[in-house]
Amino acid sequence: MTTATRKILVTNALPYANGPIHIGHMLGYIQADIWVRFQKMRGHECHYMCADDAHGTPIMLKAQQLGIAPEQMIEEMNRAHQADFGDFHVAFDHYYSTHSPENRELAELIYTRLRDAGHIKTKTIKQLFDPQKEMFLPDRFVKGECPKCGAADQYGDNCDVCGATYAPTELKNPTSAVSGATPELRESEHYFFDLPAFEDMLKAWTRSGSLQEEMANKLNEWFEAGLQRWDISRDAPYFGFEIPDAPGKYFYVWLDAPIGYMSSFKHYCATTGNADFDSYWKADSDAEVYHFIGKDIIYFHSLFWPAMLKGANFRQPTNVWAHGFITVNGTKMSKSKGTFIMARTYLDHLDPDYLRYYFAAKLTSRIDDLDLNLTDFAQRVNSDLVGKVVNIASRCAGFIQKKFDGKLANDLGEHPLLAEFQQAGETIADAYEKREFSRAMRDIMALADKANFYIAEAEPWQLIKDPANSAQVHQICSIGINLFRLLMIYLKPAVPALTERVEAFLNEELSWNSHQHLLTDHAIEPFKALLQRIEMEKVEQMIDDSKAANAEATAKPDNGELKKDPISAEISYEDFAKVDLRIVRIANAEHVEGADKLLKLTLDLGSETRQVFAGIKSAYDPAKLIGQHTVMVANLAPRKMRFGMSEGMVLAAGPGGADLYILNPHDGAKPGMRVK
Ligand code: MSP
Ligand code: ZN
Repeated sequence: MTTATRKILVTNALPYANGPIHIGHMLGYIQADIWVRFQKMRGHECHYMCADDAHGTPIMLKAQQLGIAPEQMIEEMNRAHQADFGDFHVAFDHYYSTHSPENRELAELIYTRLRDAGHIKTKTIKQLFDPQKEMFLPDRFVKGECPKCGAADQYGDNCDVCGATYAPTELKNPTSAVSGATPELRESEHYFFDLPAFEDMLKAWTRSGSLQEEMANKLNEWFEAGLQRWDISRDAPYFGFEIPDAPGKYFYVWLDAPIGYMSSFKHYCATTGNADFDSYWKADSDAEVYHFIGKDIIYFHSLFWPAMLKGANFRQPTNVWAHGFITVNGTKMSKSKGTFIMARTYLDHLDPDYLRYYFAAKLTSRIDDLDLNLTDFAQRVNSDLVGKVVNIASRCAGFIQKKFDGKLANDLGEHPLLAEFQQAGETIADAYEKREFSRAMRDIMALADKANFYIAEAEPWQLIKDPANSAQVHQICSIGINLFRLLMIYLKPAVPALTERVEAFLNEELSWNSHQHLLTDHAIEPFKALLQRIEMEKVEQMIDDSKAANAEATAKPDNGELKKDPISAEISYEDFAKVDLRIVRIANAEHVEGADKLLKLTLDLGSETRQVFAGIKSAYDPAKLIGQHTVMVANLAPRKMRFGMSEGMVLAAGPGGADLYILNPHDGAKPGMRVK
């Protein structure tokens, strides 16, 4: 069968930049990688894009917690993510970040087009606000008692104990998970995307019959419940892109995240010249675009994203393919059980092809969860890859090397198994194409059984005892190597590193079409062990490491502050007592003309005031400081500055810039009180 070269763009969901990759994540990236490798092997033009999803409140707060700028954190995380994916042989053609100029530009373009077409509406809503941290709180950052069952310590969106879902405003005794303060209701104007306007288009897509059955069912449920306008704005402080015509309002992270698929591709096109951006994304593009995602983010990809693209006059995805979630040993990945396994921890102990094969052997085109049962994992890999496939080569290669000069026979005698293996290429390709990887692996292993049976029956090790059988042994072993080679062609998308070693052994690069010919009169290399068996000991070590990493993380969350700035040399109490620290009330705070770092503070000590110039302008709006209590060094020698006398100093922590925090005494401390 010859098909025209297809133009295909593949993405997998963009991982958040606030934590490392774990083996649950790996399922989707490996699934898409196998599909992409298959398409490339078939000679199609296929580009695999990904990026870090770098925006949003959790990322902003995590960076604050680490005491670093969000830009620095996302850059470090991006490097770590790419290393993890690379070591799992997930071969993205480009890996970018949503915090990029291309993404800002495309987000602004899409927003502007939607706005100009009348698809953006505004509305004032009430939301919980943290008065101490001065920020609106996302649902997950409010905790309190469940309004249904009263369970303590529940998040603002749903209850872990009774499963109820509710609005954060319904929680009893709510507290902010950021500061511990009691949140208050505040009003703010929000921007909404008019999703209901796209109902007809989304319904047509759902009825087209191309969607996964489970996904179409979900969409129908959502249509029945009624589509709602989507809140796409968030108030400062937020880490993301400011909305062009709305200062202080930012795009909600989920608005610019899927645009990251486009912007990664845009940067790739511009830097490599490997593809033309517009021909893939213009409204009438003839290219194919597929998004691989986990089942938890179907709503964003099957409703908002196609509607946004439509409204902004871009093409819609050809399809969105969701997969289920990974469980380990039958239950949710668990930190205490050591089954919350980071990609890096896995790589420290085990070969990535093991996991790739195991996932392939269990993946279907459906949205079912996939259990990584660690005992079954070891048995399956050992029995299939090592015991069946590699075994064929190891049984035949020695004779070829020792008796026949490392060369395969000229005549394979038209053995029917060869034709059967070659013909299987079409059905296996069909399974790959449809993402029925488990069917492909099952077919391949059934063939491997036949190859092993053939060699066992032929008994070359018996025949070789009589030199008269030499040509026959040469033929049997050459057939064996050819059968092995055909299986490795079919396995190549799933186990690329093993295939690379096999290609070195066979002296040949394998493409999908190479199954149409056989290897005769061809020199192969001496056989080296191609794949080790999985030892359960290694699996256990991986679990132990995961447990230990978790214990360490909960015991001492080291933010690295002491490493950056070690504790100073010891002093005596007398040394300390020389410093006279006092509570003050900030009576006034104002900008100083000509000073770009300083604020002028008037500090009230009860019976006298002091004027202090403090280098905190980058972090504080003076108006917000007035009336607050803080701590000053009251007996510091006055210092003449360009702008006037500074009579003391206020205390603050942090590296500088926006990352600066003045001290705040507990309620009750009065101006003039000594701090000792
Ligand atoms: N940042 C969003 C996606 C934005 S796409 C425009 C996100 N990030 S994530 O880091 O939470 O998840 C990344 C991918 O990993 C998602 O497809 C998610 O479904 C998947 N998985 C996360 N945990 C998983 C398992 N335990 N099992 C299988 N996939 C899992 O969502
Ligand atoms: Zn409850």
